[in-house]
Amino acid sequence: MSGFRAPKGTFDLLPPRSAVVTTVREGLAAPVRRAGYAYIETPTFEDTGLFARGVGESTDIVSKEMYTFTTRGGQSVTLRPEGTAGVLRAVLEHGLHRGALPVKVWYSGSFYRYERPQAGRFRHFSQVGAEALGVEDPVVDAELVVLAADAYRDLGLSEVRLLLNSLGCQDCRPAYRARLQAFLHGLDLDEETRRRVDINPLRVLDDKRPEVQAQLGDAPLVSDALCAACQAHHATVQELLADASVAWDDAPRLVRGLDYYTRTTFEFVHDGLGAQSAVGGGGRYDGLSEQIDGPPLPGVGWALGVDRTVLALAAEGVAVPDPHRVEVFAIPLGAQAERQLFGIVTALRRIGVAADIAYGGRSVKGAMKAADRSGARYALVLGERDLAAGAVQLKNLDSGQQWPLPIEEAVALVEAELTTPSFSGTEESAR
Ligand code: HAM
Repeated sequence: MSGFRAPKGTFDLLPPRSAVVTTVREGLAAPVRRAGYAYIETPTFEDTGLFARGVGESTDIVSKEMYTFTTRGGQSVTLRPEGTAGVLRAVLEHGLHRGALPVKVWYSGSFYRYERPQAGRFRHFSQVGAEALGVEDPVVDAELVVLAADAYRDLGLSEVRLLLNSLGCQDCRPAYRARLQAFLHGLDLDEETRRRVDINPLRVLDDKRPEVQAQLGDAPLVSDALCAACQAHHATVQELLADASVAWDDAPRLVRGLDYYTRTTFEFVHDGLGAQSAVGGGGRYDGLSEQIDGPPLPGVGWALGVDRTVLALAAEGVAVPDPHRVEVFAIPLGAQAERQLFGIVTALRRIGVAADIAYGGRSVKGAMKAADRSGARYALVLGERDLAAGAVQLKNLDSGQQWPLPIEEAVALVEAELTTPSFSGTEESAR
């Protein structure tokens, strides 16, 4: 070990677990990619003001959790704590919103929050996100929720619950906010929470402390204060989710940790994860563009936590197949065999077969171990005698069956074998 360790709240992603993570990332992105969302990548740091204004000064994220530093040029920049503000900034900067709407994009990457590390909560974590900009149509809200639900389901998760709420709009929220403030002012709250009542009363509803929760039983609910347009929007989202057989729990107290939400807000939770149960979340943010000095541009999106989805799969005991696992492992015995097999392995890789080879004159035993570790279904073994006979041995590592293939035709025959195995079953195990 060197004198250095990964910083607190971060972790190294190592094989074999890293294969699960890449599969999860691909799985979370697959449904949006099938739905016309195009890939977007933005910098991992942005002007600090973008997050301060976009995410909201009064949020924990901005007030306590940002990695902010001054560059050598004297500019204050922040490692992105979330993706929406940066995506919107990029769309506005490059004028994508002046083309066909909605602009539908997805992204995948690292995000940074200086949180207190605990199970499922890291300072460096990974999200797959999707945003649809430029339309107010509730169909887009429903589309995104359905696509996220499908992503979890396709990965094999069956215990993810959807919590759904509407936070109203700039027309109905102010009156609700005032009613909530009046109610909260009548409670017995500490100094800091009182300050929060003044700045961001909705967040008090989300206070986890039992002494606060105990007083919130009669708090007015935003769902009872929605204007007609917000009610209609929410009703359509619910209808479309029901049509798509996506179940949800009404969560009239669901308040998210970012200030930009309007109307539809949702969270996906997994009860097998303890305190950090949110595996993903999102919602509509119709005022965010104006908040960062852009033109009116409605938007809706979500971000799904890759790390927590991996934990949820483990909690449910779902095995994640690795689509990139090596299928064929080549074992050369001797230098001449190595050269011959290197040629076959290269040809296999070029036609799309995942293949690996034992290097450096390993013993048969050592090479077989490497083949096992690789997870390959087949071994290709080439020894002196095989070379003389012009044949290479193909071995099915599950059944133990082994048979010779003419070296010249090995590539085509291995490819055929992979699509239609000659033998099945595990009888006659010779391993
Ligand atoms: P968020 O709820 O802050 O939303 O994060 C989304 C997901 O990222 C969470 O549900 C969780 O799974 C994961 N996550 C967040 N913080 C951590 C952490 N410290 N450690 C591990 N995982 C974490 C957003 O970020 C919004 N930008 C989502 C959005 C997109 N809304 C509209 N568009």
